Amino acid sequence: MNTVYLNGAFMPIEDAKISPLDRGFLFGDGIYEVIPAYEGKTVGLAPHMQRMFNGLSAIGIECNKSLEEWTDLINQLIEKNGGGNLGIYLQVSRGADVKRYHAYPEGVEPTIFAMANPIKPAVEANASTAKGFSVATTQDMRWKRCQIKSTALLGNVMHFQEGYASGNDEMLLYNEDNFLTEASSSNVFIVKDGVVITPVQDNQILSGITRKIILDILEKDGSIPVEVRNVSMEEVFNADEIWVTSASKELTPVTTIDGKSVGNGEVGAVWEAAFKLYTQFKHNY
Ligand code: PDD
Repeated sequence: MNTVYLNGAFMPIEDAKISPLDRGFLFGDGIYEVIPAYEGKTVGLAPHMQRMFNGLSAIGIECNKSLEEWTDLINQLIEKNGGGNLGIYLQVSRGADVKRYHAYPEGVEPTIFAMANPIKPAVEANASTAKGFSVATTQDMRWKRCQIKSTALLGNVMHFQEGYASGNDEMLLYNEDNFLTEASSSNVFIVKDGVVITPVQDNQILSGITRKIILDILEKDGSIPVEVRNVSMEEVFNADEIWVTSASKELTPVTTIDGKSVGNGEVGAVWEAAFKLYTQFKHNY
């Protein structure tokens, strides 16, 4: 049932093989993307693909698949994997050279891989039934090009593992100046006195598509005030609500931070209102 795509063909995952000289394997030299599909319908396909094209161009990988070809590939993958709730994983690495050498090789075809993994069904926008995440905090030790969705994720993996090993669902990260950046695999929002606040988009955070969609929906709706600005960790610890966002987590409330309650420890009313709007409009993206 697990059908994947590799370099032009669909096949069972067991048959998908790549060279050990692939630069994705040797150097983490590649770009990836995760696009959610609920009941077989994608969310944010066009902006996800645009981010992937930007990433490929930022690291100089030439991959000549058009948006139409990617869309067709993704739709076939969804169909071959039975539709439903899936995270579509796409990866383009610089490909396999004949030797290991740091410089970008010439005349090497990129390796194109795609798979579909089951994700949890979307939860109901209801504060009394939603389950809150528990998070811990630590200094962001990753590189300074976090806007690039690189497959070289060891920095993120080590941060996530630190949280996981201590029984947390995510790890919130702050920079040397004690400002919030993002989480190890998600973007972060806080709510204070009814205002939704999230850090600015720069090289310290991934340009999350879920973040972008939420900001757009909230701006269009206009009933919940939003600020995009630097957020100090003091503000994070004193927030009424904290949310983390990603393709597979959508908008997830956080109820515990470093072992203490966020706000009153309950999933918040602003989360419920924002997630209702997200649920209503997400398929427009
Ligand atoms: N992670 N920040 C980081 C570091 C991420 O890895 C992710 C997503 C996000 C949220 O981006 P988006 O809303 O576009 O999913 C923010 C994906 C899902 C992953 O690595 O599996």
